[in-house]
Amino acid sequence: MNNRGTIVVSGASGLIGSALRSSLLSRGYIVQELSRKSNLPNGQSWNPASEQMNASILQDTTAVVHLSGEPIAQRWTYSVRQRILESRVKSTALLAQKLAQIDAPPPLIVASGINYYGASCTGENGDITEMSQSGSGFLASVCREWEGAAQPLINVGGRVVFMRTGVVLSAQGGALAKLLMPFRLGLGGPISHGRQHMSWIAISDLVSAYIKAIEDVSISGPVNAVSPNSISNKAFTTALARALSRPAILPLPAFVLRLVFGCMAEETLLADMKVIPQRLLDMQFEWQTPDIHSALLSCLNKKSNE
Ligand SMILES: NC(=O)c1ccc[n+]([C@@H]2O[C@H](COP(=O)([O-])OP(=O)(O)OC[C@H]3O[C@@H](n4cnc5c(N)ncnc54)[C@H](OP(=O)(O)O)[C@@H]3O)[C@@H](O)[C@H]2O)c1
Repeated sequence: MNNRGTIVVSGASGLIGSALRSSLLSRGYIVQELSRKSNLPNGQSWNPASEQMNASILQDTTAVVHLSGEPIAQRWTYSVRQRILESRVKSTALLAQKLAQIDAPPPLIVASGINYYGASCTGENGDITEMSQSGSGFLASVCREWEGAAQPLINVGGRVVFMRTGVVLSAQGGALAKLLMPFRLGLGGPISHGRQHMSWIAISDLVSAYIKAIEDVSISGPVNAVSPNSISNKAFTTALARALSRPAILPLPAFVLRLVFGCMAEETLLADMKVIPQRLLDMQFEWQTPDIHSALLSCLNKKSNE
């Protein structure tokens, strides 16, 4: 296969990075990882917390995909909040500054979240698009600063894409993987009243959206990386139970989540987010699994008649 170029991926060992890496390799790209780990066979180590990286990895690169950041799904103590924010802002600023020094810099594709719009962002007509304003809350401010840190590259005319990502569905990790065990034991159920909207995307579609962002030079700015069919938490619960052929009757009360996870629960598990992938729709992006049933079956590796 022809070499299609080199993609530098930070956080390539993570949930999205591992899937993206495999897909890029199968399309004929070379993948160079940027990781805090040392002795990488294909890549370089960096330390974004102390703003240390060897910029030589960015030379002659087709694109840089920036996925690294402290995990969100943990109790937000003061120091965890600091790490969630700084691990994204400092690393993005470092990459943007180094890339801005290159003549004709490669594009930078940065992960971001639909949390940019706030934890309660259903809009009057459910019309939260990339044109919508940022909302309130810790994660919204993290997303604003995270995206803002790429400004040095935008200032020199660099192409920067912000992948405002919804809940990523994968059996390998993230929210779905955590739910599988209780649901398989018949202990699953809706979160709280279950009416809150959930904007999600199957990992295979997210990977395709990243590849589109790398290859389509006309794309820059925010892209809502979600399925066109957001659903209520109750509908998601029913679909997951159906995919696993298990009941889902035990609701998980909001107060328990608030007790265990504090603010993190409020801004993620209990959030009401109905987001439209307007830019992907406009560019006629083709989702392989746009509806929740096909997405869950594909993530769980099941056929529709199983
Ligand atoms: N998964 C989702 O549902 C979802 C939804 C919306 C947005 N996102 C965003 O998309 C990005 C990738 O998500 P993911 O689920 O693939 O994340 P992940 O599995 O947690 O992996 C992120 C990577 O970041 C690096 N990392 C971890 N802690 C770090 C820290 N304190 N400082 C610097 N680097 C750190 C690690 O790579 P090394 O150890 O190799 O450095 C890790 O492999 C994240 O920024 C996440 O917030 C994810």
